[in-house]
Amino acid sequence: MYVCLCNAISDKTVREAVRRYQPKSIQQLRHFVPVGKQCGKCIRAVREIMDEEMQHPALYKEIA
Ligand code: FES
Repeated sequence: MYVCLCNAISDKTVREAVRRYQPKSIQQLRHFVPVGKQCGKCIRAVREIMDEEMQHPALYKEIA
């Protein structure tokens, strides 16, 4: 599912970037994925995805 329509970025792309680079903020995430750089409507959804991924770091280690 697309979370950022302006840049055609999916939730999967955001999750992968969070898992790989472990950004501490949206600003850091933007170094890797250009979310929220236009209209900004996706910021809330991206933040929720980041929070979800940060709450389950052990699950990621099992997958990786
Ligand atoms: S939906 Fe992400 S910048 Fe517009």
